[in-house]
Amino acid sequence: MRSTDSSRFVQELVLYAASAALSCLVLFAGLRQLDPNRESSKKALQHKKEIAKRLGRPLISTTPYEDVIACDVINPDEIDVEFESVGGLDEVKQALYELVILPLRRPELFAYGKLLSPQKGVLLYGPPGTGKTMLAKAIAKESGAVFINVRISNLMSKWFGDAQKLVSAVFSLANKLQPAIIFIDEVDSFLGQRRNTDHEALTNMKTEFMSLWDGFTTDQNARVMVLAATNRPSELDEAILRRFTQIFEIGVPSRSERSKILEVILKGENIESNIDYDYIASLCEGFTGSDILELCKQAAFYPIREILNSEKDGTRANSPRPLRQSDLEKALSTSRKGKKAASSAASGLQSPEWIRPSDPEDDQEYRG
Ligand SMILES: Nc1ncnc2c1ncn2[C@@H]1O[C@H](COP(=O)(O)OP(=O)(O)OP(=O)(O)O)[C@@H](O)[C@H]1O
Ligand SMILES: [Mg+2]
Repeated sequence: MRSTDSSRFVQELVLYAASAALSCLVLFAGLRQLDPNRESSKKALQHKKEIAKRLGRPLISTTPYEDVIACDVINPDEIDVEFESVGGLDEVKQALYELVILPLRRPELFAYGKLLSPQKGVLLYGPPGTGKTMLAKAIAKESGAVFINVRISNLMSKWFGDAQKLVSAVFSLANKLQPAIIFIDEVDSFLGQRRNTDHEALTNMKTEFMSLWDGFTTDQNARVMVLAATNRPSELDEAILRRFTQIFEIGVPSRSERSKILEVILKGENIESNIDYDYIASLCEGFTGSDILELCKQAAFYPIREILNSEKDGTRANSPRPLRQSDLEKALSTSRKGKKAASSAASGLQSPEWIRPSDPEDDQEYRG
């Protein structure tokens, strides 16, 4: 009798324990489902793991704000632009190599004294389409540094109230991931002159950015730099300009530079070997790299058009013929920019806005 009582007691105990465990499990699962941040924190963790894997960095601990910024982190290995693919700009590339890339790649060379301390702020300015963004990508690739592409829209949109915290997350994440480049494209839209009409959040963000940047500037060991590009340098805040210790003009290419740009754009394409790059470049007065790219794209369409026309006539061609010099000439004669170049070459006119300063002192003066 006593043994059946005790076995029933044990049975009940097990039953209670099991049902308690089940209730806990259901409650726990239910609460997890109800957590409004569940999806985003799961994504953030996944993203963090991906970043750590991609960047070959150990799994660093990050704040939710840093996780938002982490979405804009680019692995240099995934960038397909190299210095070689930027045509012309030889002097700028050489200076950028010595001032930006070398300190990030070989910090030990720059550890002797304050005079050699790495640059903390580099600005690229020049007219649209001259390759500033392309050059910035090439710098990231060549330096092997983590590239944090700061997008104002990302800082301002959904986290509007937290913009200041996001700005500080940019710097703290860069510090954790260093060597790192904080890149701000179209910097005038973010760090432009402060106006009375600016929203308070934007003003706070700029102030926060500058003070954090100063923090890095005084830290000799930090391998973090701010790289920015703009085509409206005059709209930049004076205080911001002062913090860019190196300023490079990426101007409209000269004839020989246009020839080099043509060469790098057409490299590896299906082209005839007798194209006279220098001659074509002489016809492209005032063209930027991006104009030359558009010209080549337009010219590359002629062989395709020929195939389509021959198909209409009932003949079939297997593959498009190689691009010829005459295609480029034809594209030039039809493009709006090409016609303008031809007329300005005839009248000896040149756009006054972006004439390359003949004396480096001009550049100094601009910095004010
Ligand atoms: N020097 C160059 N060598 C080779 N390609 C170039 C060069 N400059 C421009 N290009 C071509 O033009 C495209 C546009 O250039 P990019 O976006 O870098 O110009 P940008 O100076 O940043 O212009 P914006 O001021 O409008 O942002 C590049 O993707 C590239 O294909
Ligand atoms: Mg750009």
